[in-house]
Amino acid sequence: MTVGIDQIGVYLPRYALPLEALAAARGVPVEKIHVGLGAYQMAIAPPWEDAVSLAANAAARLFAQGQAHPGEIGLLLVATETAVDHAKPASIFLHELLGIPSNCRTFELKHACYAGTAGVMIAADWIRSGAARGRKALVVATDIARYPLQSSAEFTQGAGAVSLIVSERPRLLALDPLSGVFARNVYDFWRPLDRREALVDGKFSVDCYLDALDGAVADYRAAANGRHNGEDSSQPLPAGLAALLYHTPFPKMAYKAHRRLLESEGRRTGETPADAEESYAVQVEPWLGAARGVGNTYTASLYLCLAWLADQAASRFEGKRIGLFSYGSGCCAEFFTGGIVPGAAAVAGRIGLAALLQARRELSVEEYETFARDGAHGGTPPGEDAGFCHLAAVRDDKRIYERGRYFG
Ligand code: HMG
Repeated sequence: MTVGIDQIGVYLPRYALPLEALAAARGVPVEKIHVGLGAYQMAIAPPWEDAVSLAANAAARLFAQGQAHPGEIGLLLVATETAVDHAKPASIFLHELLGIPSNCRTFELKHACYAGTAGVMIAADWIRSGAARGRKALVVATDIARYPLQSSAEFTQGAGAVSLIVSERPRLLALDPLSGVFARNVYDFWRPLDRREALVDGKFSVDCYLDALDGAVADYRAAANGRHNGEDSSQPLPAGLAALLYHTPFPKMAYKAHRRLLESEGRRTGETPADAEESYAVQVEPWLGAARGVGNTYTASLYLCLAWLADQAASRFEGKRIGLFSYGSGCCAEFFTGGIVPGAAAVAGRIGLAALLQARRELSVEEYETFARDGAHGGTPPGEDAGFCHLAAVRDDKRIYERGRYFG
């Protein structure tokens, strides 16, 4: 049975902060941000958007493509680390907002940025097990990345959501039925229950990410060899993969990851590693276009890279295999592969990610700081900014969402 990603929907807040303006305001050389981090803009969520409304908008944009219907969904998973309630899951708000049938299993997943991939893997196994009974899974990864104002991590914020239909006979990405996993308890990035902004041990988090990449790739290779532990002598990993997509908290992290992969593979095989710069320019850098302008979307970050590849170049990749690396602080990571399905361009042509990026309005640093201090308390979006759903208000500790256009 072939299982994988059948459709992608993306939603981004309508506001973006140019990072040269933030660099000037914070007295940081702009080269550190553009070259050192590889970042140019970050998406900013206004007070009427939270993880639920972003997710509902991403799913609504997917259904508006006209090739899937809420009635077909038997599993609804929402992955987020910026949930709106400690008990009530984001997924149940979506269940109502989207009109999903009552005989649908639904819950929220958390493991920092890894949870989106956890959702995709659970959904794929649900289909392979036969429990789906011909139905589809809807997995939505949604987050607002927030760090304290004036902190060095402030430049690596962002916001957005990606929705994925996982089904049998997928039309976009057919998942290979194996992956490599790595988990270890580390305090690299965390957010205690009473805090809105994340805490991070920045440099340590970069090391944890790279160590987890090594571990996940070693496990992938062992799985590919039909063994559970140990190394093998198969060819270096990037060979045979047309593109590599990495969890991208900031674009330079994907560069560091790719360089680490090539070095580790070179050490393992004893061969001279491929030229890192050349390989990065062809296999990785072109797929960071959305991340450069959006920033970190935590659970959605890897899938934003996939959406950008599909949006920009699906026809070029039809019939080719790609590799994907998902990392969630704390930490858990997974390396997996899949094939872009022949005919994928017809489905990918409906994502509209480039148009979404272009339609955004630039904020001043003062407007951004006001949004950041206010948080998601609800409000009324200006007419032209209204999506399918927004957070209207929070009353008696209950969140009230309003639905707008896109579908019924
Ligand atoms: P920092 O202290 O702002 O920056 O922290 P730095 O001093 O490390 O400089 C950054 C880069 O800019 C360096 O390049 C400098 O050399 C360069 P590198 O050595 O790394 O190649 N640089 C310059 N380049 C050109 N011109 C200049 C200049 N000055 C310096 N004038 C850090 C950066 C990423 C640590 C910080 O922003 C941070 O803490 N961010 C948040 C944590 C993070 O994103 N970690 C990534 C791995 S963990 C992860 O991905 C999980 C996560 O998504 C959460 C989850 O799982 O839920 C975060």
